Amino acid sequence: MAKEINTIGVLTSGGDAPGMNAVIRAVVRQSLFKGKKVKGIKRGYAGLLNEEIIDMNAKSVSDTISRGGTILQTARCKEFETPEGQQLGADICRKHGIDAVVVIGGDGSFRGAQKLAARGINTIGVPGTIDLDIACTDYTVGFDTAVNTAMEAIDKIRDTSTSHERCSIIEVMGRGAGHIALWCGLANGAEEVLLPEKYDYDEQRLINQVLNARKIGKQHYIIINAEGIGDSQGLAKRIEEATGVETRASILGHMQRGGSPTCKDRVYATTMGAMAVDLLCEGKSNRVVAHSGGTFVDFDIDEALAMQKGVDENMYQISKSLV
Ligand code: ADP
Ligand code: F6P
Repeated sequence: MAKEINTIGVLTSGGDAPGMNAVIRAVVRQSLFKGKKVKGIKRGYAGLLNEEIIDMNAKSVSDTISRGGTILQTARCKEFETPEGQQLGADICRKHGIDAVVVIGGDGSFRGAQKLAARGINTIGVPGTIDLDIACTDYTVGFDTAVNTAMEAIDKIRDTSTSHERCSIIEVMGRGAGHIALWCGLANGAEEVLLPEKYDYDEQRLINQVLNARKIGKQHYIIINAEGIGDSQGLAKRIEEATGVETRASILGHMQRGGSPTCKDRVYATTMGAMAVDLLCEGKSNRVVAHSGGTFVDFDIDEALAMQKGVDENMYQISKSLV
């Protein structure tokens, strides 16, 4: 018989994402609803090791559902990647009476949750990253807001690009994953999308396409470049030199990580946060909440971390065929 959970901790870890506050709010309020105590762990695993632990009540999360960022702050913590750091983390949880932790973050953060679970602290992961790069789920908290923010920025760049008849390279976030770039490619009707998963670094092909577009009378040429490929300024210079078409690069950067979450991010984040608490109350541990096949499900963290995901092939083909 699994030990009953009395106190649930919650932390955010890795890069922040709009909607993380909605998850925290749901974890706090659902825990209270189920008669549990709840503690906030500040600054991810770094805050756990520093014992930055606060009591939370319903009021602690008032007025947070519409706010970007994370009220618990977030951090990356190398020490927690060591067995000693993980043991210390589990011991600190026990010292503070924390039986279970909801970890909001990406794959790296889930590895931390896995290590805590192996040391007797029940854990549930909630996917929180703008990158959409968690294989077991077709939704991650923050992606919808980030991709809408990027889409709106690219629309604006497109206006000025058309006025000046330029080529514009817009770099969006995603160090290892091109999901934001691909979605913007379709949403903004870009002429070209460069994804770390697909790009062949054939610049001559790009140059020829810019020239062809000019020949057939296109007034702009929008290239969406994922951060994982980078070098947008260099690429702009080379395209301009080779084509004679004025080319500008814009790097959207961290604006994509902020802002008030969209309705979808608020609703999905809330559902996932409440579900994480329900799973803990059912005695489950070492699991991650996901959205797959049109519904909310959960996976064993070990299995979830072993899954692989690339960009959506159909979307990628459409991005190429509609130019
Ligand atoms: P994300 O969770 O967004 O993937 P990171 O990969 O930066 O972000 O991981 C966030 C934090 O999770 C790290 O700083 C570290 O504290 C913890 N973490 C990452 N990998 C491991 C691991 N293998 N074991 C334990 N903790 C880890
Ligand atoms: O994981 C989210 C993300 O925004 C990535 O898209 C990006 O590569 C990375 O975080 C940037 O991290 P930092 O804020 O530490 O520069």
